[in-house]
Amino acid sequence: MSTAEHINEKVADLRRTLGMYRLVRIISEGATGVVLEAEHWTLGRRVALKTFNPKGFERTGMRVAELTEVFLHEARILGAIDHPNVVAIFDAGFARGHEMSVEIPYLALRLVANGDLSTFVQQRGRLDGDAALRVLSGCAHGLRAVHAAGFLHCDLKPANVLIEVDGTPRISDFSAAMPKGLPPRQGGWSVPVVTSPPNMCCHGASNVATDLYALGATLYYVLTGKPPYQVELHDLVTWAENATAAPAPHLENSAVDSRLSQVVMRLLSPNPQQRYSSIDEVVEDCDHLLAGRQPAHAARSRTGFFWR
Ligand SMILES: Nc1ncnc2c1ncn2[C@@H]1O[C@H](COP(=O)(O)OP(=O)(O)O)[C@@H](O)[C@H]1O
Ligand SMILES: [Mg+2]
Repeated sequence: MSTAEHINEKVADLRRTLGMYRLVRIISEGATGVVLEAEHWTLGRRVALKTFNPKGFERTGMRVAELTEVFLHEARILGAIDHPNVVAIFDAGFARGHEMSVEIPYLALRLVANGDLSTFVQQRGRLDGDAALRVLSGCAHGLRAVHAAGFLHCDLKPANVLIEVDGTPRISDFSAAMPKGLPPRQGGWSVPVVTSPPNMCCHGASNVATDLYALGATLYYVLTGKPPYQVELHDLVTWAENATAAPAPHLENSAVDSRLSQVVMRLLSPNPQQRYSSIDEVVEDCDHLLAGRQPAHAARSRTGFFWR
């Protein structure tokens, strides 16, 4: 490369800058946010930089202050959790990009090489039983850390679970997370229909059972390539009243071990009272499955209900 070319490249780099980060490529563009691959100027470390999406921002009509609060909210929650199955946050702050008149908030997260589970399954097909069990077990451990830190995730779904090259799952996207025991936010959350916990949509309140349902729905998708229920938002109330169980994953995919299927179906019970009573029980059942044993809690009745 000639000196002139080298200088031109450096100038081009400087234009694709946000604070201490050189922007490499867009990973994902959402309604209000954008996730970019970026490199820290001095450390040389590649990160996933989550920041404002100027295009989407104009469309949603949210105010800068509101959106900034959402970013800081996510940053503080991630900053409070340190667990291998929850995406790590390295840095958060405000920075100005090329020709930007104001500073915008950003989060710098561990860059997870294989992206999110939704895209992963769309591109490579459903996971085999062993890989799915590792995802379930990892997510259960991660979710246990989230609950133990005093938070609910409230938006667990395949697009919000990142997957490393070695198969380690990392829970991400805490923009909808909230402290346990708080009433739901005014205006409600934007809830994706395919994995939305029905009790959350119908009654407006999130609790531990909501996250457990969402974990089950995520695993169902990973094992079968589809969500457990296809319910339109306006049908949810009648659906929750009349729900019959989705076909168990081992009936949809004969390669799935029926014991893993049993755990997933327990998480997916339409009635929250029939789900596991805590994430600790799910972690314990995953440990049993990993050791080749029967799950201890999945078939146990909480209200006279036995899974078959
Ligand atoms: N740390 C990361 N590493 C790799 N990809 C990421 C990372 N964080 C987010 N992504 C990708 O960007 C998408 C959107 O990020 P997310 O945090 O879920 O924001 P939102 O859903 O609010 O737009 C994810 O579904 C995933 O594909
Ligand atoms: Mg997301």
